[in-house]
This record gives sequence, structure tokens and C-alpha cells, in this order.
Amino acid sequence: MLDHLFQNNIHWSERMTDQDPAFFQKLLNQQTPEYLWIGCADSRVPANEIVDLMPGELFVHRNVANVVVHTDLNCLSVLQYAVDVLKVKHIIVCGHYGCGGIRAALNNDRLGLIDNWLRHVQDVRKKYEAPLLAIADDTHRSDKLCELNVVEQVVNVCETTIIQDAWARGQQVAVHSWIYGLNNGRVQDLGMCVTERDALLGAYDSAIRKLVHD
Ligand code: CO
Repeated sequence: MLDHLFQNNIHWSERMTDQDPAFFQKLLNQQTPEYLWIGCADSRVPANEIVDLMPGELFVHRNVANVVVHTDLNCLSVLQYAVDVLKVKHIIVCGHYGCGGIRAALNNDRLGLIDNWLRHVQDVRKKYEAPLLAIADDTHRSDKLCELNVVEQVVNVCETTIIQDAWARGQQVAVHSWIYGLNNGRVQDLGMCVTERDALLGAYDSAIRKLVHD
């Protein structure tokens, strides 16, 4: 069963050791990634490949529609380990255009259990109901919600006790808002980058102003 995947794995590990015979040995004892990636589980948005980073360079958490929920022990544990133990310097919340989870949340699609998870995206939708409804084109409206969702999730990251405590003790960690284009493979910075507690509100206001009013 799944022989082709084992074959792929053998070829991949051989390629890696051809390039650097000590590659896996070096990774064995430590990982020192500088970045935490919080992205969508979508198979078309593979974190390491998009930013061309090697194993050991990117700590990754992915879920449907890249949502950061205040009580999600899974995401919070990844965040805490990344910040407190690995001491990552950057946290990248990366959404993507054409996100199926975002579209489902926008259209009230009934897909099963996941509808409950996507309620968090519907909270974002509700918050920006008027500007979203003002967009006539379905794809553009969905893509706007993809952008707004990233900004809201950046706020959620920043509001966690993990990030608040890190900033309070002077640890340098920046939270970024990115979005990825399935159509061209390009990442775009949505302009909200937060590096300290007092900067959150201003960064949020200016990001929303740019996304909603420009
Ligand atoms: Co998605």
C-alpha cells in the first residue's frame, strides 16, 4: 500500500544527502527555526515550499482557513512552544486567495462538522458585513474576506497571553499578515506587522482602513 510514497521518500532522502551528506545528522540534535507559520491546511499552500525553506527552518501550524481561536489548545501549544522554547523571531499568519473554507463560511455551505469551525470565520464576516456586501463580484468578496480573516487572526495571535507575556519581558517577536495567491505562487504582505503591545491597535486600524476603505 502507498508504495509510491515510500519510493518518493527514498528518492527525497537520497537527494538531500547527495546535496549535504550530514544534513539529517545536523537536524537530529536541534531545530532552530526563526519563523512560525500559521497557514491554511489546503494542499495547494505548502508552507516550506512557498518560502523555499529547508526542514528545520520553519515551525508550522496549519488548519482550515488559518484560524487562531482563543481556546484552541492545539494552536496555542504550537505558539507557546515556538515562542517560549524555540524563540522564533517572526510569526507569519498566511491566508490564501480562493480559500475553500472562507468561501464556505461566506456562503453558509453545509459541509458537516467543519461548519462549526468555520463559525469563527463567520464572526469575521459579520464584523465586516456592510463592506463585504458592497462588493458585487463573488470572487472578489470571498478574497476580501480572506484578507480580513488574516488581519483578525493576527490580532488573535497578538492578544494571546503567550505573545503579551513575551513582549512584556522584552522578547523580540513580530507578527505578520501575509496572503498567498494560488494563481501565481506569490506571497503578498497585507501590511499589518506588530512588534509590541502598544502598536497593535494602530496597526490593526490602518490595515483595516487599507483593506476596507481604499
Ligand atoms: Co484555505
